[in-house]
Amino acid sequence: MAMAKPLLSLLAHLHAALLFQPADPAAGAMMYNVLRYGARPDGAADAAGPFLRAWADACRSTRPATVFVPPGRYLVSSATFTGPCHSRAAVTFAVAGTVVAPAGSGGRGSSGRWITFENVDGLVVSGGTLDGRGRALWECRRRGQGSCPTPASSLTIANSRDVVVAGVRSVDSELFHLVVLQCHGVTVRGVTVEAPADSPNTDGIHLHMSSQVSVYDARISTGDDCISIGPGNSHIWIERVACGPGHGISIGSLGKQEGMAVEGVQNVTVKTTWFTGTTNGLRIKTWGGSKRGFVRGVTFADATMSGVDNPIIIDQRYCPTSGGGCPGGSSSISISDVRYVGVRGSSATPVAVSFDCSRSNPCSGIRLQDVALTYRNRPAAARSYCRNARGSTLGLVLPPSCL
Ligand SMILES: *[C@@H]1O[C@H](CO)[C@@H](O)[C@H](O)[C@H]1NC(C)=O
Repeated sequence: MAMAKPLLSLLAHLHAALLFQPADPAAGAMMYNVLRYGARPDGAADAAGPFLRAWADACRSTRPATVFVPPGRYLVSSATFTGPCHSRAAVTFAVAGTVVAPAGSGGRGSSGRWITFENVDGLVVSGGTLDGRGRALWECRRRGQGSCPTPASSLTIANSRDVVVAGVRSVDSELFHLVVLQCHGVTVRGVTVEAPADSPNTDGIHLHMSSQVSVYDARISTGDDCISIGPGNSHIWIERVACGPGHGISIGSLGKQEGMAVEGVQNVTVKTTWFTGTTNGLRIKTWGGSKRGFVRGVTFADATMSGVDNPIIIDQRYCPTSGGGCPGGSSSISISDVRYVGVRGSSATPVAVSFDCSRSNPCSGIRLQDVALTYRNRPAAARSYCRNARGSTLGLVLPPSCL
């Protein structure tokens, strides 16, 4: 709380300064304050139009440009900010306030996205809170009577290069909180995600068909994966992430739909993570069935588990649907060269390490190094499970490996 007062007065100062000075000559950047475009900070009037008009001007600027959302609450029904912009590599969307989705479900359109940035190279999205107000949608889905509106991910960055997302707080998304889709060169820094443990499919950060993505210093509490690394991702670096509640950090799920395309994930590093009361820690999951693909070159280093159901898990028979709908057969995704280095702490179930790999495509090159996981405070009570998994160990490994 000691921070609150100076921070508020700083923000108020910024607010006043930016409201009356559209340009910031010192920084050489053009400033586009959404209040000047008619946005009302009352949380009631739809500010989507003003936001989009401010964006259009910023995107047309030939100099570096910033759209600024001052403190206050802004209702936005849904908005897609598209490029390419004129000032290549320099458009910033800076939020000091809170952007709220419409109350109830269905007000975000049917695109599956609430706020989207698309085709904007050099984009920076910084600060602010996004409140997805997902509760009504979750409750509809939980009742399970079909006919719920399409859920919307809160923030999607699509088809862009050289993007920074910094200091954004996302709460209660209807679906995924932050999606990085078909991007190259994205840094996500200091992002916070907050949603209840029982909110369905509310992944914190979801990466899809992207390369050179780094995530640093994230704090994620949610109802599904804290971070999910879906198909087609490569050269991914994740460092310093606190996860819980949630379903852990997952590669996958892969291989759900049949089809010709190969689903590959390669060169992923997940370093210095803390899992508290999560259902999984470090997970790779693939569905059964014939969709081909691979996961290779993964390093999980320096992880701390506190009461995690499945601290280390490869699950190639992944199928979360209860009762039917699971594909038969063994997974055609081959998993190789996966290292676990320095994983310690407590498992909430006896099987602390589980490698349940494909019969037709066994896992290879799994390496466990300096692993110490306990169950009920006793190392001897924890177990490992292996099926179709080959690999080696180095240093201390508890529970004893079954590779
Ligand atoms: C793996 O990805 C990292 C970025 O996360 C990159 O710096 C490195 O060069 C990549 N390694 C290979 C062999 O491609």
